[in-house]
Amino acid sequence: MDSIVLVTGAARGLGLEMCRQLLAEGRTVIACARKAGEPDLEKLAKGSDGRLHIVPMDVGDESSIREAAGRIESLVDRIDILINNAGVYPKIGTVSSGIDSDEMILAFRVNTLGPMHVITALLPLLRKGKDRKLAQITSKMGSIDDNTSGGSYAYRISKAALNMAVKNLAHEFGSERFIAMTIHPGWVQTRMGSSAAPLEIGAGVADILKTIDQATERDNGAFIGPGQERIPW
Ligand SMILES: NC(=O)c1ccc[n+]([C@@H]2O[C@H](COP(=O)([O-])OP(=O)(O)OC[C@H]3O[C@@H](n4cnc5c(N)ncnc54)[C@H](OP(=O)(O)O)[C@@H]3O)[C@@H](O)[C@H]2O)c1
Repeated sequence: MDSIVLVTGAARGLGLEMCRQLLAEGRTVIACARKAGEPDLEKLAKGSDGRLHIVPMDVGDESSIREAAGRIESLVDRIDILINNAGVYPKIGTVSSGIDSDEMILAFRVNTLGPMHVITALLPLLRKGKDRKLAQITSKMGSIDDNTSGGSYAYRISKAALNMAVKNLAHEFGSERFIAMTIHPGWVQTRMGSSAAPLEIGAGVADILKTIDQATERDNGAFIGPGQERIPW
């Protein structure tokens, strides 16, 4: 496949494994990581025949996103698929114990605003893309219907807001044939998911990439989980 895919939060976890699998499929990958010099990414780049481009990007910082977009414009002439994967799971707070405003704002900055600022900055390249797919990695914990246990205020609220943003993206860009999705990966073994998670990272990522590849206009504005199952909002 000759598609060009951009992944945020690519230094470890799901993002790193996405880069690995996308390269194995023959694609060109722009791996955006918060910090430069991430060893796992550097190693991956060495064996990629020049198809992996590493670009520093802190999705919680608008100037870093703009700077990264400038560098990306000098590397590629289009982006076919954007995967807004970077995310944080801040300390769990409750209203009775007191919500930590800084943690709440961090979650909102990275999980909610980050994906939107990334799209704005990359829009000229995305508009030149063949697939026009905008995939946001959310969580079922951002589903209001599915909230059966409470807790994790910052994470849940920031992902619920991301889900609303994706529905808006579907309206804003649907007429331009973009497909905006919000994808729950399942509970996967990463630093965030922990080793207690039932899903192995390779299988989790393969499923996410299948969801993105199989997405059609019908999926614009959809909330999709493992096995391409629709998740209630
Ligand atoms: N694993 C699960 O079970 C699960 C379930 C539902 C949803 N998700 C979602 O899946 C996505 C990936 O999570 P993961 O499981 O791979 O978590 P992870 O192992 O903790 O990795 C998170 C990634 O996001 C990056 N990141 C954090 N803040 C960033 C920032 N400001 N700018 C750029 N990158 C940033 C991290 O970079 P650093 O190394 O620099 O911190 C890291 O590469 C997240 O959006 C998460 O909410 C995961």
